[in-house]
Amino acid sequence: MSKLPPKRPTLAVYSGTFDPVTNGHIDIVNRALRLFDKVVITIASNANKTPLFSLEERMDMIRKCFIDETERVEVDIISGLLVEYTARRGANAIVRGLRAVSDFDYEMQLALVNRKLEREIDTVFLMAGLRWIFLSSSMVRDVARHGGDVSGLVPPHVRAALKNKFARS
Ligand code: COA
Repeated sequence: MSKLPPKRPTLAVYSGTFDPVTNGHIDIVNRALRLFDKVVITIASNANKTPLFSLEERMDMIRKCFIDETERVEVDIISGLLVEYTARRGANAIVRGLRAVSDFDYEMQLALVNRKLEREIDTVFLMAGLRWIFLSSSMVRDVARHGGDVSGLVPPHVRAALKNKFARS
């Protein structure tokens, strides 16, 4: 009887600015972990945004969220195109979270441009949990900047980092 070749673990890439990572992002990663063997979270140095947290700070905050999943969750920084990174890693898919219908236009455009650039890479859309559909990083930053309570929106270590950041500014 011929032996089947060992199955390659499935890999997904989930990219964003994560300034900072929120419970909504964590929800998407946990959903992706049900479908893929491993998820690489990539922090993009987005030229259109002026981040509050440095790349290293963001990386550290994301790693702490998945401290119990170090085998299955990797965090990386990308400076080029997401689709090129995804192809280079031999990943199966790009994961994107959808929060509301308003996300769809942009997401479809992004997915189609990415497919045009790399035909083999597909985008998988995951519905964010209902609890997080209103959430974004800039909303969290704004609440924290004005001294509002962000517990329940971000993990405790991110809340502490925000408090620290705004206490110093
Ligand atoms: N929960 C909470 N917030 C969420 C969320 C979720 N499930 N999904 C998205 N968001 C928020 C983000 O926090 C972010 O909020 P902000 O604007 O307040 O910071 C906002 O929605 C937009 O997020 P996202 O759509 O992920 O955009 P991004 O700028 O973080 O990332 C990429 C867009 C993936 C294109 C970019 O980061 C990337 O990888 N760039 C590499 C270059 C590239 O390939 N560009 C595309 C060329 S076609």
